[in-house]
Amino acid sequence: MVKSYGCQMNVYDATRMADLLGREGYAETASEDDADLVILNTCHIREKAAEKIYSELGKLAIAKRALNAQGRDMKIVVAGCVAQAEGEEVLKRQRAVDLVVGPQSYHRLPELLRQAASGARIADTDFAVEDKFRSLPAPSRPQIRARGVSAFVTVQEGCDKFCSFCVVPYTRGAEASRPVAEIVSEAQRLVDGGVCEITLIGQNVNAYRGLDEHGRESSLPDLLDRLARIPALTRLRYTTSHPVDMAQALIDAHGAIPKLMPYVHLPVQSGSDRILKAMNRKHGADAYLSIVERLRLARPDIALSSDFIVGFPGESDADFEATMALVRNVGFASSFSFKYSPRPGTPAADRDDQIDETVKSERLAALQALLEAQRQTFNAATVGRDVGVLFEKPGRHEGQIAGKSPYMQAVHVEGPMEAIGREARVKVIAAGSNSLAGRLLREEAKA
Ligand code: 5AD
Ligand code: SF4
Repeated sequence: MVKSYGCQMNVYDATRMADLLGREGYAETASEDDADLVILNTCHIREKAAEKIYSELGKLAIAKRALNAQGRDMKIVVAGCVAQAEGEEVLKRQRAVDLVVGPQSYHRLPELLRQAASGARIADTDFAVEDKFRSLPAPSRPQIRARGVSAFVTVQEGCDKFCSFCVVPYTRGAEASRPVAEIVSEAQRLVDGGVCEITLIGQNVNAYRGLDEHGRESSLPDLLDRLARIPALTRLRYTTSHPVDMAQALIDAHGAIPKLMPYVHLPVQSGSDRILKAMNRKHGADAYLSIVERLRLARPDIALSSDFIVGFPGESDADFEATMALVRNVGFASSFSFKYSPRPGTPAADRDDQIDETVKSERLAALQALLEAQRQTFNAATVGRDVGVLFEKPGRHEGQIAGKSPYMQAVHVEGPMEAIGREARVKVIAAGSNSLAGRLLREEAKA
């Protein structure tokens, strides 16, 4: 089994690892108790995320010892960004780990597992840029079907921005874009397998600069335009974007491409110009507000989401207030917010004006209360509207089906299982704390 932590890139990579190993004869298990092989696809972004991996590994080590006592084995693999950042350290810190494999080496997994089968303990964290989009065999149609109607496609990897708090440029390397033709053929294959929503992913997805068949550079809006021409593909999304790369052509695409969903995840991190500068974000609060204004001009119903960090070194009460003011000004549909976590090797970790943990906690609580109120306001505003819902799975209660609105809200309705895998019009009738309740509109219910 492959257990994924952190960002969507890891979810996508985990799928590819599972598909690849499926071809080697491995079958996925629902729990680690039945597994001969457990891959932890790890995240290194904050200290808590990395520490969680070691506590998980501790539990797996106990399970492995119990299996060994019965004459069975369980191979433990650490993949992802902890693997990349810590390499052999992981093998030293947890003796039960058999293999450590960085994101650039996943295509070598079958071979590495064969070596591990004979008892070798290996760390493969080569950092060869040429390998970034190495081709793994395409997933089979049943594999695609089993994963549902919505899929991720990686179009870009890595980051050249070097925000002063962030490990990504070190764990995922320099920005690189996948060629257009490869993306289009992967999308087509997914659509042929029943997928109708594709989310293009990249650490800096809107910095996408892939080459087309004529060797010309394509931008993200060019790519979206191209993918929108696949008839059975009905929804397109992209994440995660950086404000500096939010070109007007991409903003305009939200007005011009109906399949492009009215939802943008655009992390701002802070509303204070001083802190944004210290974070090396390369833009101020006004530039962010201007992007929001232009997005709303292009697509008035657009929903915005963001990431925030509180307690960055040197953040004063006034700086934090500026973040609160920006949030009030924008009105976010959803968001993620974190306490600053010093990461070894990043410039901000060495600063001597670190913020007290209790101050961080207070600021985070205040920010999250505001963001939560905005989320509820946004959801409440959907009540009474007719929206398209892409149904993905059975709901929690008998007779219910559940899916996503264009704005990434979870929606459930009373409806037939046959509607799963399709988009239908829904009248939203109530907003709960985590999802919306709706009613299938009649003409769609019959279809
Ligand atoms: N501390 C806290 N949050 C961080 N993020 C990235 N690095 C750190 C850190 N050192 C957050 C940012 C980013 C999101 C993926 O994680 O908000 O957008
Ligand atoms: Fe990290 Fe900044 Fe790159 Fe995002 S843009 S991955 S926060 S360095």
